[in-house]
Formats: sequence, C-alpha cells, structure tokens
Amino acid sequence: MNDRRKQILNELNLLPLWQLKSGTQRQSHQLRSLSEPDSTINLSQSIHHMDWDQLKQAVSQCTLCPLHQTRTNTVFGVGDEHADWLFIGEGPGAREDELGEPFVGPAGKLLDQMLAAIGLKRGDRVYIANIVKCRPPNNRNPSTEEAKQCEPYLSRQIDMIKPKLIIALGKVAAQNLLDSDDSISSLRGKTHDYRGIPLIVTYHPAYLLRSLPEKAKAWKDLCFAKTTMRSLV
Ligand code: URA
Repeated sequence: MNDRRKQILNELNLLPLWQLKSGTQRQSHQLRSLSEPDSTINLSQSIHHMDWDQLKQAVSQCTLCPLHQTRTNTVFGVGDEHADWLFIGEGPGAREDELGEPFVGPAGKLLDQMLAAIGLKRGDRVYIANIVKCRPPNNRNPSTEEAKQCEPYLSRQIDMIKPKLIIALGKVAAQNLLDSDDSISSLRGKTHDYRGIPLIVTYHPAYLLRSLPEKAKAWKDLCFAKTTMRSLV
C-alpha cells in the first residue's frame, strides 16, 4: 500500500479494516469507498459485514463521535456470542471505562442479582451490551447523535448474536432501540419488536439503586421476560 493511500485510509478510520480484509473482492470494495462522499456511510456498510474480531478491532479504534476523546477504554460488550438473552444498557460509567467491560460498577452488581433472580448468569446464554461503547463524560446520557454513530456496532452485534429476546435497561436504551420518545412507564409491560426480535423494557439498575420502591416493578418485568422467553423456546 503506498503512503498516500495509507494516509487516506487512516484519516477515514478504515485502515484496520483494510488490514483485516482478505480477498481482492473486499479490498476493491474498501477502495471504492474512498471515492464516495460520506465515509461514515461506507464504514457503516463495512461494519455490517464484519466478523467478531473485525468488529472488536473497529470499536477499539473508533473515532466516529466525540466520546472517543475522553474515553479510557471502549466497552464492547460481554457474554455468550450466541446468547438467547441480550441485555442492553445506555453506556459505560467510570468503572466500565476503566475496565473495558459493561456493568461492572454498582449498577452491574445489581444487574447480576437481577439475572440471578431469573436463573441467569452473565456469559451463560446472556450477552450484555450498551447503546454507546464509550463513556459519556460525567455519566450524562449519550446524545442522539452519539447513539446514532454507535448504532451500526450494536446492530452488527445483534445480527451475529441472534438473541431470542432483548431486554432494554432504562429509558435511553428503550427509546433508542425503539426509536420512540415514549416514557419508560408506557413502554414497560409489553413485548415490542426490534427488527423481528421481541424486546421488553425495564428500569435501568442504576435507577433502581436510587429508587428502591421501583424494584418490585422491575421484578414484575423480569418475570414477564422469563414467561416471554419460555413461550419463544
Ligand atoms: N450503566 C450502563 O448503562 N451501562 C454500563 O455498562 C454501566 C452502567
């Protein structure tokens, strides 16, 4: 690869993709993308065809939104890559940013208890991911634009995992996944559809830590999810 081409690929954040691809057909697809105006669209198309290793590498080097400037680590997601259950939160917090793994702080401990309550365990038929893969500063909610830039990564994870059921943890996850402005209370208690996959909404564990009385409602949601999963298997 000559230096100019290398520089362009680097600027477009495509260089790792180039290095990972094998076979002339894919290489020419990447090269064609350089002449197209919107590199983000091309990256998003490339993401759609990535395998797990390629996707992990792309996420670890992502600079698509400003969150990359303040992150320590990207937080890709963790668990069984063929999980039946997919839990999706909003974005990494301080501890997750430090360790590069989702839900490892206090909210994560509660999530583990919630999983245990319905007979599940992190990594065992369960995958955990977030709407955004980098920590929003001061734990603010990710912006719509940040969520949009990160969406192709999550979408590809979902395509590869093929979960039977998705659980959206909290308002940010629910509203982004369902492309809705509805309140969490109106989204709970129903089975929604995420590209053909049933999706159930419950409260975010961090919210439950602050609002203990809502735990009973979350328990109801988990029982509903368990019953729904039984009907799907
Ligand atoms: N909150 C989230 O939404 N995700 C995490 O990974 C941690 C806390």
